[in-house]
Amino acid sequence: MESRIVVLVSGSGTLLQALIDSSVRDSVVAVGSDLADCQGLVRAQKAGIATFVVEPATFANRSDWNSALQSELVDLRPDVIILAGFMRILGPGVISQFRGQIINTHPALLPFFPGAHGVRDALAAGVVNTGCTLHYVDEGVDTGEIISQRIVPVLDGDDEVSLHERIKIEERDLLVKALELFVATGTFK
Ligand code: GAR
Repeated sequence: MESRIVVLVSGSGTLLQALIDSSVRDSVVAVGSDLADCQGLVRAQKAGIATFVVEPATFANRSDWNSALQSELVDLRPDVIILAGFMRILGPGVISQFRGQIINTHPALLPFFPGAHGVRDALAAGVVNTGCTLHYVDEGVDTGEIISQRIVPVLDGDDEVSLHERIKIEERDLLVKALELFVATGTFK
């Protein structure tokens, strides 16, 4: 049976673009964002993929925002939800509803350097290798079970932007390969 993939984005959406350019494109049923003005949404629209926006600022509180996001996701009946540069923490309702179906990609070798600044924190720590991690999402911040990782060396003269760009090359490939496997077999391992 055809897989149903929903992708959530907050930023430039180059990971999403890698999915759009891959064989899993036809399984991407919708792209959502917490930001109406988001390049990732433009990429989805150009590809003819349905989009939705659930902006926290338009809700009275975090719990209401989470409920609205959960309701959008339930309507889409996803087999898997990919956080591809989605910079919000999902609430417990969304996580328990879709436990084992939400996957995040993170620009560091978890469990090291979790959070919103994985690249900056790795550079500041002076590591010679960092990388990226694909993992299940649980209630913690980047604490869920790891699916796969890639190592990326830190080069002399790297700054946060140059290092992040090289990490994202690996992230795109890791994500596409994982979803190709999921579409073909229904699992990530
Ligand atoms: C990716 O490096 C992703 O791992 C990161 O945002 C970038 C999105 O790039 N996500 C996080 O840091 C989440 N904590 P993109 O907008 O070009 O696809």
